[in-house]
Amino acid sequence: MDKFVIEGPNRLKGEVYISGSKNASLPMMAAAILTDKDVILHNVPDLKDVSTMCELIKRLGCVCERDGKTLRLNCADISSDFAPYELVKTMRASILVLGPLVARLKSAHVSMPGGCAIGVRPVNLHINGLKQMSADVNIEHGYIVAKTEGLKGSNIYFDIPTVTGTENLIMAAVLSEGKTVIKNAAKEPEVVDLVRLLKKMGAKIEGEGESTITIEGVEGLDGVEYSVMSDRIEAGTFMCAALITKSEITLRNAPIFAMDAIVDKFVEIGGEIEILADDTLKVSADKINPVMIKTAVYPGFPTDMQAQFMAALTLAEGTSIIEETIFENRFMHVAELNRLGANIIISGNKAIVEGVDRLIGATVMATDLRASAGLVIAGLSAEGRTDVLRIYHLDRGYESLEKKLSLLGANIRREKQ
Ligand code: EPZ
Repeated sequence: MDKFVIEGPNRLKGEVYISGSKNASLPMMAAAILTDKDVILHNVPDLKDVSTMCELIKRLGCVCERDGKTLRLNCADISSDFAPYELVKTMRASILVLGPLVARLKSAHVSMPGGCAIGVRPVNLHINGLKQMSADVNIEHGYIVAKTEGLKGSNIYFDIPTVTGTENLIMAAVLSEGKTVIKNAAKEPEVVDLVRLLKKMGAKIEGEGESTITIEGVEGLDGVEYSVMSDRIEAGTFMCAALITKSEITLRNAPIFAMDAIVDKFVEIGGEIEILADDTLKVSADKINPVMIKTAVYPGFPTDMQAQFMAALTLAEGTSIIEETIFENRFMHVAELNRLGANIIISGNKAIVEGVDRLIGATVMATDLRASAGLVIAGLSAEGRTDVLRIYHLDRGYESLEKKLSLLGANIRREKQ
């Protein structure tokens, strides 16, 4: 297992290029199942989760080839509807093949994803939606077993606007008979990006980015060539790095259009921004004010940014309160931040972060993707050496983070643990 060794405190300077979005790439890769033509995706980040999805797609009998930042997928010869536990347990987003498999093959055997560090992560809304679209779905020996004579359009209501649930059912609906209306759908930009891809493939979809999405089923879908949007969470992560190190950096290829809540919170904390172009953002900070944060579905403050902002707020001039409303266990980074000298207490789904004068380097352990990003951010400012263990969590969702931070002047290196 690898670890990061960080010598702090660091000052950052220069430019960083934001990679393509993990959470936009993964559903688009699954969308290749819906057609027998080529799906060419550009700006795809080189991440563990993307490699895992590529491996899963190949297990189904499809082609998935990477050439730099471009993936070519082709499911003309798809020959299996089986998504095995040993792959799905390493990446929950594998559930995204469920809807496309039932739509294309009229059957699916997809392992239940199981939980992860941040929560139980149920998929009941995905399953109920498929049942409403005339699929028989049962859980057998830990697998979701779905069969249908043909999916039929239906009126689906989500009592929680699930992101991958919305993506799964949109992909199930695009080849179904008739009209599907999804109410209380997720509005995340990555859902909108997926819909743009599907519409380029010939799907008939309206309302993406709103609470009600309408899909008219079509006979079949064409191939497509598409460039994936950039990663707003990676961009926000670098903004928190600038905040805690009180640095000025420039983000290139940043999806500013999708970052209102992140930028707004950054400014409220005391950061300054200057938009240099529609994808270029200069950020700087010389103070950290305490704030209230409450995570919410898009366009609210993203839960995927909670750990990173918490790391910066450990050095605020006062006490902040962070309320996590999306996942039931997304404070795994708190104990580790306190090992660095932070002063955080948890009360229910709230974390009370009392600002301290400084953090002191220590060995800390990553537990999940965004928690590990928070620990790296804290390590940049902590005095002395910080070792962040188990950074395989980080490699799932950040492309060459240590290289990008080193280019900005951080003293960080990867070592075998
Ligand atoms: C997506 O996960 C993202 N993953 C997550 O990013 C992100 O944190 C999350 O959305 C929230 O924004 C991908 O897009 C691959 P949800 P997802 O279904 O779709 C409950 C990262 O860091 N729920 O919107 O799994 C669920 O328990 C990852 O990149 C049900 O109850 O999240 C949670 O409380 C982490 N039943 C809430 O909804 C269901 O059937 C939101 O979950 C589905 C979800």
